[in-house]
Amino acid sequence: MLELIDVSVAYGNISALKGINLRAQPGQITAVLGANGAGKSSLLKAIAGLVPVVSGEIRVNGRDLSRMPAHLRAREGISLAMEGRRLFRGLSVEENLSLAWSFGPRSSPFAQALEQVYDAFSILKDRRHSKAATLSGGQQQMLILSSVTIREPAFMLLDEPSLGLAPLIVAQIFKFITDYASARQTTVMLAEQMAAMALKVAHHGFVLRHGQVVMEDTSQALTQADVVTQLSAAYL
Ligand SMILES: Nc1ncnc2c1ncn2[C@@H]1O[C@H](COP(=O)(O)OP(=O)(O)OP(=O)(O)O)[C@@H](O)[C@H]1O
Ligand SMILES: [Mg+2]
Repeated sequence: MLELIDVSVAYGNISALKGINLRAQPGQITAVLGANGAGKSSLLKAIAGLVPVVSGEIRVNGRDLSRMPAHLRAREGISLAMEGRRLFRGLSVEENLSLAWSFGPRSSPFAQALEQVYDAFSILKDRRHSKAATLSGGQQQMLILSSVTIREPAFMLLDEPSLGLAPLIVAQIFKFITDYASARQTTVMLAEQMAAMALKVAHHGFVLRHGQVVMEDTSQALTQADVVTQLSAAYL
């Protein structure tokens, strides 16, 4: 289980997160919702160790990792797919996957891991020798997700994977995340401005506003909630 206890983050004297308490369970997708600047990316970066916490604890299976450097947290199974498409653009699809695999626990041979990726996203197989830079937005997001999952993370942090993608592609990507999380019992945190879409696949969620949790509930309850309706309306 991933648990945040009273976590605060600041950039200089700009406070980005103020006393965040939340939990995310294995095999479940936890949505982190909120408007522009609410603190979603800061939250995921704090968990991955890319921004320091001012105070509070980040507990992974009961152990506080909040002072551990990012590369060691990655070894504990925490993997973050950052907002915006970060790939090795000059490398091919397969070279990107090979590099990602080399950073993981490599519990299965690369060929087998690759086969699983290509089973999920056959378009990546068709384009396996193409440079990442030449892929469409949707294909790049598929490659990013595959690069995360090929490292076999226990905790998968996804920052706006739907950004700029067509609804059909988003549905495909979200289905992949759902299937992966339940098959591997991965703890998934999904940060999204697109509340309605995220809540369709999440089990429960948190709404951030100005760096604070203003609401926490099941996806079903949040879908009905005014704050989420407003959030969704803002991005229609
Ligand atoms: N590197 C930084 N330096 C200074 N302030 C920052 C930095 N990154 C984020 N902030 C500030 O921290 C707050 C939270 O930003 P954050 O990026 O976490 O929000 P977000 O919910 O991910 O927003 P978005 O939906 O735009 O991605 C904002 O007020 C933002 O301006
Ligand atoms: Mg963000």
